[in-house]
Amino acid sequence: MISLPPALITTPRLIIRRRDPSDAALFKDAVDSSLEHLRQWMPWAHDEPIPLEALRERIAGFALNFEEGREFVYGILSKDGSEALGCLGLHLRNEDTDREIGYWLRVSATGQGFITEAAAAVTTAAFATWPDVQTVTIVCDPANARSAAVPARLGYSCLGNRPSKEPTPARSEDQVWRITREGWHSSTGNGRAAVSQIQP
Ligand SMILES: CC(C)(COP(=O)(O)OP(=O)(O)OC[C@H]1O[C@@H](n2cnc3c(N)ncnc32)[C@H](O)[C@@H]1OP(=O)(O)O)[C@@H](O)C(=O)NCCC(=O)NCCS
Repeated sequence: MISLPPALITTPRLIIRRRDPSDAALFKDAVDSSLEHLRQWMPWAHDEPIPLEALRERIAGFALNFEEGREFVYGILSKDGSEALGCLGLHLRNEDTDREIGYWLRVSATGQGFITEAAAAVTTAAFATWPDVQTVTIVCDPANARSAAVPARLGYSCLGNRPSKEPTPARSEDQVWRITREGWHSSTGNGRAAVSQIQP
């Protein structure tokens, strides 16, 4: 089976950890308080809010996928663990030598650099976990400037737009951002200073 990335990653301001059903109430609050913000860019948010028990089951599925090496969805929490700030997924969507990161934040947690900090930590974790992985990719809607600003801040390069893998009436193209292993270890994008420690 594929090696698993760390279940827990800490940064100066964040706990980034494998989803756990016991966190369901915290994440329900994060989503339910951010519906309009999320619906602009996340198709699943149109089906929210969902009952707490259904969310618990969904999170249990994320946890199982993590344990079985299918995809690695992390919850992002405040340093004291009292508030769910958002989510970040590390996916096996592209070639074997690539990993893809996706993310969202609750609306009240935006504008503070949290996703930049989390994406930096998880990019580092991806290269450290899988020696054969040569690139990490972030894909966004070309119109989603705030999302694109995250990889730009971290020194990823924009490879341009490509036809969307899952086109919708509102989105026919994906914008692709990518960084190489070499580029990551030699660049000093400003989000990088925030990353402290990775705990396996
Ligand atoms: C995409 C999304 C996560 C980006 O959130 P964000 O708050 O803009 O990103 P960050 O957490 O990295 O914060 C960056 C902002 O904090 C500021 N900031 C403050 N302290 C900072 C720090 N220490 N480091 C970096 N940025 C910092 C930056 O200047 C920037 O502000 P600006 O937007 O005014 O330029 C958020 O808009 C979101 O959840 N959108 C809905 C879901 C979505 O679109 N997901 C992506 C799908 S591809």
